[in-house]
Amino acid sequence: LGEQFAVMDHAIGIIGGSGLYEIEGFEKTEERTVETPFGMPSDVLVGGKLHGRQVWFLPRHGKGHRFLPHEINHRANIWALKSVGVKWLICITAVGSLKKEYAPRHIVLPDQFFDRTSRREHHTFFGKGIVAHISFGEPVSKGLRQLLHQACAEEGCMVHNGGTYVNMDGPAFSTKAESLANRQLGFDVIGMTNLPEAKLAREAEIALATMSMVTDYDCWHEEEEDVSAQSVLDHLHANASAAKRVLQRVIATIPAEANWPEHSALDGSLFTPVEYWPEE
Ligand code: ADE
Repeated sequence: LGEQFAVMDHAIGIIGGSGLYEIEGFEKTEERTVETPFGMPSDVLVGGKLHGRQVWFLPRHGKGHRFLPHEINHRANIWALKSVGVKWLICITAVGSLKKEYAPRHIVLPDQFFDRTSRREHHTFFGKGIVAHISFGEPVSKGLRQLLHQACAEEGCMVHNGGTYVNMDGPAFSTKAESLANRQLGFDVIGMTNLPEAKLAREAEIALATMSMVTDYDCWHEEEEDVSAQSVLDHLHANASAAKRVLQRVIATIPAEANWPEHSALDGSLFTPVEYWPEE
């Protein structure tokens, strides 16, 4: 039993599309419905074992893609993963490229975010009497990003380690003026979902890194088609097998001990002295 808890305590979470858990060697053991103080997550958590590690999958938009970016209950998603013992979280997400050299089907591992969202009260667990300010200067776990980079390189993927992900609200894609402005500001990729996940994961003391899959050139590129939902889906599906191979490889390299800086991110962040997180 002790051993089982040791594994439970150090689980790995994956937020991505549905069906990502169809990875060779993944033994699905359960589906868990988790209720949180913030409501229901996007879907049931799919749990199982890969390389002897406990892994939990959650489809960001729900099965059958039911939620628009601003309808995703990010707080419930991260809370649910936290409550089953997730300490490392890998996000897989589609992005538009703001740089010529980041072509569709390349992978970018962002190390920075720029917040252009407008529902920021939904992007924190705190408030209502609990006051905390987390440090977010380095929003991505460097340790996990380096492991992802290694796994991507070993799989022969076209991977770019580092870059700034600008998070817009959507659901409409950018105008050309916005896209050009984002390029001038030096951002690398654009998406609609990952920044709230990174903020909430940091508050929950979960180490997070993201594999962003380039699906388009947004709408700034003179010679390329403007982004459309169809082009995003086409490239994403084409890249799903690469994503699964990288996941399969990286999971074997994640340490068992949750003792990275992200795992104590709340030290010195809380103004209100409380025991906040649920028992796992
Ligand atoms: N997701 C995939 N491509 C995108 C784009 N061009 N803008 C915002 N989100 C995206």
